[in-house]
Amino acid sequence: MPIREATPQAIIEAADALRRGELVAFPTETVYGLGADATNARAVARVFEAKGRPRFNPLIVHVSDLEAVERIAYVSDLARKLAAAFWPGPLTLVLRRKPTGKISDFVTVGLETVAVRIPDHPVALALLKAAALPVAAPSANRSGHVSPTLAAHVYADLGDVPAMILDAGPAIHGLESTILDASGDRIVQLRAGAIPANRIEKLVGTTVVRLHEAASLEPDQALIAPGQLASHYAPAAPLRLDAVAVAPGEALLAFGPQPLACDGPTVNLSSSGDLVEAAANLFAALRTLDAASPTEIAVMPIPHFGLGEAINDRLGRGAAPRT
Ligand code: TXA
Ligand code: MG
Repeated sequence: MPIREATPQAIIEAADALRRGELVAFPTETVYGLGADATNARAVARVFEAKGRPRFNPLIVHVSDLEAVERIAYVSDLARKLAAAFWPGPLTLVLRRKPTGKISDFVTVGLETVAVRIPDHPVALALLKAAALPVAAPSANRSGHVSPTLAAHVYADLGDVPAMILDAGPAIHGLESTILDASGDRIVQLRAGAIPANRIEKLVGTTVVRLHEAASLEPDQALIAPGQLASHYAPAAPLRLDAVAVAPGEALLAFGPQPLACDGPTVNLSSSGDLVEAAANLFAALRTLDAASPTEIAVMPIPHFGLGEAINDRLGRGAAPRT
C-alpha cells in the first residue's frame, strides 16, 4: 500500500524517489498530482503509461519559486504580473520555453511552450524543494476519469504504480488550476479552473480572452489547447445535465437549498448554493454516486458565473459522448 501520511520523513523519501526517476503522487491545493522528474524522459513516459494518457497531451511542470520558472521559460511582463498576483496558487501559465531549460520533450510533446505553476500547498512545496527538480504532474487519475481529491482516489485509480502516495487529506479547491496562455501579448484562458476569470481580470486589469473567442479572432493561428478532449472527467455512469426531475434508478447530484425529489443516492454539492463549496465537493461526489452504479446521474443546473464556469466545463465534458 503506497499511501503514506505526508510527514517530513515521508516527504524526504518521496523526493528521493522522484530523483531516482520513480513516480510520486502528492497533494496540491487543486487536486492530487502524479509527479515525475520533468527532466527525465523515461520517468515522464511512465506517467503517460500509468494514466493511459493520449501522448499528444502535454503536462504541467510544478516548481517551488519564480527563479525555477525562469530557468525553464521566458517570463513576459504580463506573466510576471499574473505570477505576482496568483503564485503560489491554482494558476498555470503557458509560457515560451527556454531551449536551455532541460525540460524533457516528452513533457511539452514538442511544443514551443511549456505550462508551469507554483502550487500553494505546504506538502507540494516541501516536496519540490527537497527534490530540487521541476516536477511534471498531471492529475493522478486514469486518463479521462474524474480527478482525485483524496489519496484514496489516487489509490483506486493507480494502485501500486506510484512509489508513494503522499496523503495530506482532501484537496481544498477540488478543481484543477486555471490555465492561461501568457506566451503572447494577450491572456487566453485555455482551461477554466480554480481561479475564476473575472477575479483575474479584476486583479491584473487585463481582459481574459476565452479560447473560442481567440480561435474566432485568429482562425488560422491554430491556438492549441491540447488535452481539452470532449470526453474527460467522466464517471462510469452517464451524466444527465440540467435535470428538472429524477427518474427511477438514477442518482442525483444536487445543488442548492431545494434539491429535486430522489429515491436513489443523492449528494448535494452545496445546500447553501455556494460555488466554492460545490467545486471542492464535485469530484468526490461523482465518485460516491458512481459507486452506487446508478443507470444515470441526474445533475441539477448550476449557475455559470464565477467558479460555475469551471464546474460546468467539467460536468459538460463528463457528460460528453465517450471516446
Ligand atoms: O491543478 C492542476 O493543474 C493539476 C495539479 C496536479 O497541478 N494538474 C493538472 O494537470 O490538471 P493535467 O495534466 O490533468 O492537465 C494539464 C493540461 C493539459 O491537458 C493541457 O491542456 C495543458 O495542461 N497544457 C500543458 N502544457 C501545455 C502547453 N504547452 N500549451 C497548452 N496547454 C498545455
Ligand atoms: Mg487531468
